[in-house]
Amino acid sequence: MHAATRELAQAIAAARRITVVTGAGVSAASGVPTFRGEGGLWRQYRPEELATAEAFRRDPALVWEWYAWRRERIAGCEPNAAHHVIAGWSRRPGCRVITQNVDDLHVRAGTRHLIRLHGSIWEMSCWDHCGQAKWRDEAWSWPGPGEVSGAMANRRLPRCIRCGGLARPAVVWFGEALDPADVDAALGACDCDLFLTVGTSAVVHPAAGLVHEARRRGAFTAEVNLDPTPASSAVAVSIRGRAEDVLPRLARP
Ligand code: OAD
Repeated sequence: MHAATRELAQAIAAARRITVVTGAGVSAASGVPTFRGEGGLWRQYRPEELATAEAFRRDPALVWEWYAWRRERIAGCEPNAAHHVIAGWSRRPGCRVITQNVDDLHVRAGTRHLIRLHGSIWEMSCWDHCGQAKWRDEAWSWPGPGEVSGAMANRRLPRCIRCGGLARPAVVWFGEALDPADVDAALGACDCDLFLTVGTSAVVHPAAGLVHEARRRGAFTAEVNLDPTPASSAVAVSIRGRAEDVLPRLARP
């Protein structure tokens, strides 16, 4: 075991209050596409071009087609070793897990005290804000080939279960505010002994700022990521590697 891995494993074993923040890299080994880097693009679009209210207003069928593609991919995925290690840590008192992932894999691995900053891809909400609370819909899928163009596609998009208007994915898009309760909970989780960021490019705020906040409050900070990120130089220990390989080693010092 490398010295940095051993140091972090010992720090994790000794910490009373651990906070873990995760991104798409944690689910990569499960087969969920990441947003940035290799395989991160859908057709020619970047996430910032599709995950916005503006994109949905302009072309709801295009945005729903992207979400349908992601839902289909995710439906066939299982939690991997990294999710299971984090779920194990979450059973320790004082451990909190914050995720940007909308894929439900932390939930399916049995993670407790989970703060889901960006929502769930399996939930929908009313685009017209009719007052209906968000609801879960795992059944809707993109209409088959031949039914996907223009007005036909728009007629097959999911509808609000209350008012019949257009439904949207109940996820947080660029330019939208996060649920204030989730932000409060995430900031509260920065009061910890050890703050570990895993599998995130650390460029999307506010999640990307949490590690700096935790460090400011005196936490020991660490990162596990395949590639260097803006957080790498700020943390006390930075381990370059795959979450599904590194986390099981961290769990057994
Ligand atoms: P990104 O796709 O931006 O970053 C994934 C990070 O994981 C990259 O730094 C990869 O190097 C790393 N990575 C890939 N495979 C890995 C593995 N097996 N183990 C460890 N690291 C690995 O995903 P996020 O940082 O989660 O938001 O993206 C943040 C937000 O941007 C998402 O929640 C989403 C997106 O647009 C919204 O849709 C609002």
